[in-house]
Amino acid sequence: MARIITFASSKGGTGKSCVVANLGVAMSQLGKHVMLLDADITMANLGLMLGLEGRKITLHDVLAGEVGVSRAIYRGPEGVKVVPCGISLNGIQRAKIERLKKVVVELAKKTKFLFIDAPSGLDRDAIIAMTLAPELILITTPNILSLSNALKTKIVAERLGVKPLGVIINRITGGDLDLPIDEIKSVLELPILGMIPEDRELRRAMALGEPVITHAPKSPSAREFKRIAAELK
Ligand SMILES: Nc1ncnc2c1ncn2[C@@H]1O[C@H](COP(=O)(O)OP(=O)(O)OP(=O)(O)O)[C@@H](O)[C@H]1O
Ligand SMILES: [Mg+2]
Repeated sequence: MARIITFASSKGGTGKSCVVANLGVAMSQLGKHVMLLDADITMANLGLMLGLEGRKITLHDVLAGEVGVSRAIYRGPEGVKVVPCGISLNGIQRAKIERLKKVVVELAKKTKFLFIDAPSGLDRDAIIAMTLAPELILITTPNILSLSNALKTKIVAERLGVKPLGVIINRITGGDLDLPIDEIKSVLELPILGMIPEDRELRRAMALGEPVITHAPKSPSAREFKRIAAELK
C-alpha cells in the first residue's frame, strides 16, 4: 500500500503543482516508485508541466466512468507515473469527483508513493482532495496572505482527521520583504520540510513543459527538490 500525501495550500499560485511535479521527478530519479495525481479537476496543469498535454485518455474519462484508471497512467520524465487531467470543458463537465476516492484506492495498489496535487481554496473539490490522503504537506510562500491561508488549511485538515506532516516554503527571495522562516514555523507549528528559492530556471523549465530537475539539475530549486526527495521515506 502506498504512502498517500496531498499537497495543499488554499491560496492559489503558491507552487503546489510545481512542487508535486518536481518532487515526484526527483524521487523517481532516486529509484523511488512515485505516482502523481492531478486532483485539480477544473484547473489542471500537472500534465502540462510534465510534457504530457494532449493525451487522449485522462482522469476526466476515468471520473466519467468511461475507462479504467490503468488507461490514464502515463510515464513522465525520469519514469515518474502521472495521472493527468484533461483541459477541455467537456471533460470537466463529464467528470464526477465523487469517484475520486475509489480511483485513489486503485492507484495506491500500484505504487509506493502517491502524491495528490490539490486545487486551491477550501471549497468542495479542495476538501475532497484533502480527504483522499491520510497525510498532507502544506505549501506556502513567505508572505502573510499565503501564510494565513496555509494556517486555515492546516486547521481544516486536522478537523478532517488528516495529518499535516510539515510545510514547504516556496519562492523564497531572501529579500527583506520575505516573512522570516522562524515566523512561518511558529505560526504553523510544523516542521519545515523544504525551502525552495525563487528560481528563474524553474519558470524557464515550466515554459518548456519540463521539470527543472531535468532542465537545470544544478539550479538552486532543483537542488532543494532533490534534497527533500532524498528525505521522504
Ligand atoms: N520556486 C519558484 N521560482 C519561480 N517561479 C515559481 C516557483 N514556484 C512556482 N513558480 C511559478 O509560480 C506559478 C504558479 O505555480 P503553480 O502552478 O505550481 O502553483 P499552484 O499552487 O499549483 O497554483 P494553483 O493554485 O493555480 O493550482 C508558475 O507560473 C510557476 O512558474
Ligand atoms: Mg496547481
